[in-house]
Amino acid sequence: MSAYYPVYLDLRGRRVVVVGGGTVAQHKIRELLKAGAAVTVVTPASAPGLEDLADEGSVEILWRPYRTGDLEGAFLAIAATDDRSVNHDVRAEAERLHIPVNAVDDLPNCTFIAPAVHRQGDLTITVSTSGHAPALAARLRDRIASWIGPEYDALVALLGTLRAEIAAREPDFKTRARLWYRIVDSDILALVRRGDREAAETLARQVISGSIPAGKVYLVGAGPGDPGLITVRGRDVLGQADVVVYDRLVHPALLELIPPKAERLFVGKGPQGESTSQEQINDLLVSLGLEGRRVVRLKGGDPFVFGRGAEECEALAAAGVAFEVVPGITSAVAVPGAALIPLTHRRWSSGFAVVAGHECDGGSDLDWSALAQMPTLVVLMGLRTLGDVVSNLRAAGKDATTPAAVIAEGTLPTQRVVVGTLATIAERVKAEGLESPATLVIGDVVRVPEQLSGSLTPVEAGVAA
Ligand SMILES: C[S@@+](CC[C@H](N)C(=O)[O-])C[C@H]1O[C@@H](n2cnc3c(N)ncnc32)[C@H](O)[C@@H]1O
Repeated sequence: MSAYYPVYLDLRGRRVVVVGGGTVAQHKIRELLKAGAAVTVVTPASAPGLEDLADEGSVEILWRPYRTGDLEGAFLAIAATDDRSVNHDVRAEAERLHIPVNAVDDLPNCTFIAPAVHRQGDLTITVSTSGHAPALAARLRDRIASWIGPEYDALVALLGTLRAEIAAREPDFKTRARLWYRIVDSDILALVRRGDREAAETLARQVISGSIPAGKVYLVGAGPGDPGLITVRGRDVLGQADVVVYDRLVHPALLELIPPKAERLFVGKGPQGESTSQEQINDLLVSLGLEGRRVVRLKGGDPFVFGRGAEECEALAAAGVAFEVVPGITSAVAVPGAALIPLTHRRWSSGFAVVAGHECDGGSDLDWSALAQMPTLVVLMGLRTLGDVVSNLRAAGKDATTPAAVIAEGTLPTQRVVVGTLATIAERVKAEGLESPATLVIGDVVRVPEQLSGSLTPVEAGVAA
């Protein structure tokens, strides 16, 4: 646990002394000038760029070595020298004068440390590793910054205009905090992202006046497996949920994006195969929505591809509960893709069909003659009925030598791919012991990984047979 207490200092017009004038010192000076500080630099020698910096803002340069007394009247001190004894003397003086001091890359001589910083308008994001790994802090800062689009900057500006109004309306701190959370957890960010500032402000005012029902259900596609394959919108909505209703195929890492106080309700199959019925799920979503909660119904892949999302929408619409569908990346496309199997190909496939394999369990209403004509056929939920799928296609005239592949746990580190033909695939999958979830692809496109194997090893290509 870090022993540091993070703060942002108001340095406008305050004197900050920087000892040293090299590249690192100049970086610090630039940041201090951005914060409006009056900077005094103490350095015996000139360094490229230093004098130009003096012209840029409020910088005074003392061209001599540091000596005790230089920190007199300073609000903050920075020692950016590569001489630890100078850093030590600066620290000693700073301690005596009760001035916080930072010695660059010299933790023992610091009484404060500087985080990695990302600035975006009035939004500032800082990351610290308590001085242990500044490079890691910088990389984490870059990662976080890459999630924070310009809409956040605009949102900060918009929310800033509401601050005084809300403070006057809600004097009680706790009630005011709850109202702020209702605003930032609303769809305001999506409206700002769309560039519709007016609608965003109207929505904020509706939330302030309590004129919109807070309850809404978001049907969110969690993607095919890899937690990185959820959409940006899906991730945002998940991070603002009051309650999340989720399935078995949702990756556990996605559940970590849920706010700690939010409720998590699992409605997938339990260890004994017991499951919540679709009617029970529909009723649950309706009642949570009617309670005024912000509900995320998180489903594997895309909610509308064999996800029964449409039934849930029907139930919500009938009950008058607001809902939104946040599409996801379906396993039907992404899982073959992760195994380097494209569903269309200029030479081999001008189209594809996606069907459910369990349909053929004890009879199927699918038109197998039509499916046998498809250049590429993708079968979901088809592992258990693989033999039936093959016989139906063979009976409809599909050539026994047509390439076929089964990809299990696609997009995950545990992904396995078994390749064969219509004649051999069932036997090979059994021999390899593949387990659900698995996606079957039939068609000449299954040859693509083999074609690419000139430049990729089978391991890189994710192909195990
Ligand atoms: C009930 S369906 C849901 C499909 C989901 N809505 C979608 O769009 O991907 C579940 C089936 O999707 C396929 N599937 C889902 N995730 C998979 C994965 N990571 N690897 C292979 N197949 C997967 C399997 O065929 C599985 O039986």
